[in-house]
Amino acid sequence: MDRDAELEIIRRAYAKQIMAVFGVSDRRIEEAFASVKREDFLGPGPWQIVRWDRGYVPTPSRNPVYLYDDVIVGIIPDRDLNNGQPSLHAALIASAAPRAGEHVVHVGAGVGYYTAIMHRLVGRRGMVTAIEFDSGLAARLAGNFSEMNNVRIIPGDGARVAFDSADVIYVNAGATRPAEVWLDRLAEGGRLILPLTAGAFPASDVRQGAVFRIERRSGEFLAYRVSGVAIFPCEGMRDAESEAALATAFQNGRVREVTRLYRRDDVPEEDCWLRGTGWCLAYR
Ligand SMILES: C[S@@+](CC[C@H](N)C(=O)[O-])C[C@H]1O[C@@H](n2cnc3c(N)ncnc32)[C@H](O)[C@@H]1O
Repeated sequence: MDRDAELEIIRRAYAKQIMAVFGVSDRRIEEAFASVKREDFLGPGPWQIVRWDRGYVPTPSRNPVYLYDDVIVGIIPDRDLNNGQPSLHAALIASAAPRAGEHVVHVGAGVGYYTAIMHRLVGRRGMVTAIEFDSGLAARLAGNFSEMNNVRIIPGDGARVAFDSADVIYVNAGATRPAEVWLDRLAEGGRLILPLTAGAFPASDVRQGAVFRIERRSGEFLAYRVSGVAIFPCEGMRDAESEAALATAFQNGRVREVTRLYRRDDVPEEDCWLRGTGWCLAYR
């Protein structure tokens, strides 16, 4: 059997395995993970794999088989900037549920592996806007999608740049508050995947972070915690005051009881899990 045929089978097994970690069952997402080649985005190996006890460890060879495991891969290891864990992304993408024909905005796209997964889900009739702050990565991202006319690459700050109304906004960096544009540009029925983190990455742990799914529905923002998270910081979306409030909220617990995000200041204190200026995450 030649290597491509072998890798195709390995990718199928990988897709099944990573879906099983968080119990995700979605044929289209599994198919996307089975089809998209991770090595096409990460560049030639050997690759630096995060091993929890030893830090970055290079793969034994350039064989892409090592990428088809539930592993985090260094993109810029010196900055702890990584291609995230496939099982977590499978769960978060399932939660965002990009549908055929929709517009997905990917904030912190890196070199685009998960952008490509979501691109498959929205299909030819859909649109993906991928925003990356690091200019070197944004250039690699643009190169990785140069053949695709329904992927728009924006180098810059995904919390500031203007983009068209979105059905999914998929944020892949840890903020301490939601950006106005993420809430403003969420279409009716749109889903925002928002990691909020306290503590300095990479030393922080997953109990000091949570990924929220926020859905705009009939003028309201429905919200709930999808998972814990430790993730690379979001440029421009962290400040000491909101980080301290977030750390206190995590210490108090009850994050799983959050059901709403409000964009106002008059929600009663006892209803708030976390309060910022002009917004809060609340229990009801
Ligand atoms: C954890 S990495 C994830 C990269 C990619 N999603 C992956 O898993 O391969 C986070 C990325 O977010 C980018 N980033 C951080 N703040 C950003 C911002 N305000 N706007 C756009 N990108 C940002 C970083 O440069 C980095 O590439």
